[in-house]
Amino acid sequence: MQALFTQYWHFLAVQNACKINLFDLFISPNTIENFCKQSQTQPVAVQFLVNFLTEEEYLYQITASNEYVCSPKGLQLCDNQPNGWKNACILWGEEHLNAWQGLDYTLKTAQPAFERAYNSPFFAYLQDKPNKLANYHLAMAEYAREDYAKVGDFLTDLPTITADIGGGLGVLIKNLAKTYPDKKFILADLPEVLNLATAMPENVELKPLNFFQPFLFAAEAIILARVLHDWDDQQAGIILNNCYNALPQGGKLYVFELMQDEIKANLLSLNMLLMCKSHERSGCEYKRLLNTHNFEIVDKKLFNNLQTLTVCERM
Ligand SMILES: C[S@@+](CC[C@H](N)C(=O)[O-])C[C@H]1O[C@@H](n2cnc3c(N)ncnc32)[C@H](O)[C@@H]1O
Repeated sequence: MQALFTQYWHFLAVQNACKINLFDLFISPNTIENFCKQSQTQPVAVQFLVNFLTEEEYLYQITASNEYVCSPKGLQLCDNQPNGWKNACILWGEEHLNAWQGLDYTLKTAQPAFERAYNSPFFAYLQDKPNKLANYHLAMAEYAREDYAKVGDFLTDLPTITADIGGGLGVLIKNLAKTYPDKKFILADLPEVLNLATAMPENVELKPLNFFQPFLFAAEAIILARVLHDWDDQQAGIILNNCYNALPQGGKLYVFELMQDEIKANLLSLNMLLMCKSHERSGCEYKRLLNTHNFEIVDKKLFNNLQTLTVCERM
């Protein structure tokens, strides 16, 4: 039990190591003295951190040369690693951590502690902060890399044009576009987000949009992946109405979300309430929400160890 109380020490030690690019600067063997010059940090403090990171095998010590070097675990916290998690690690220790420290406020008011701390809804807050926006989306892409790796095996009967609405940096749609080179795809998100997206396959078109406004394009099928869970029923309803209007009758809507009754996600629900005044819905809540906005569920299957794919038809 008591080990729990200081678990955040470990996380914040690693998170702050990421913030000062410690792992990046130990990809090749490096001394503490040299690292401190490169990062403008103090050896007396860094030594304790490096000792801990060595004890936990993020770093290996090379005793003969008094140097340290990243272990495979430490390499995962470096920039641009194919299996890296540096952005996700930084993300959770910034505004999310601050919001969690306001949990007492959310418990008393059921209002998002994030909005009290930052005087803004979460996504609006990100829009004019390029570094925060990039960190958030690179972190989402790190999760998406694993979560959507097999999406092509699940969406097998796609029409000619499928749009991923709120698709972030496009990890999911890139996978689909590579699996189905003869089909066309649209990646749609806020313009600031699409500006961060890297090169896309030829069959992916970028369409900036605000999904609370009518879409200026039509699609034969729409994907909403981890979008509805960010919004309460009223706001989610606006997004669904806009999807409805962009689809033909019988057009498919693919919803990728965690279902509270299938996965134990109570802390994730608290996190969504703290950050966005939403929560992780149950299957019944999604059914009600989708039916209310004229989508009929035609199939539902577990997609990975977290998310369910709900296939709907526009009525
Ligand atoms: C939780 S992320 C999900 C990203 C991606 N679909 C995934 O599953 O990894 C939510 C996405 O909604 C986008 N978003 C938020 N507000 C938006 C708006 N008003 N219009 C369009 N996209 C928005 C964000 O930029 C972000 O990419």
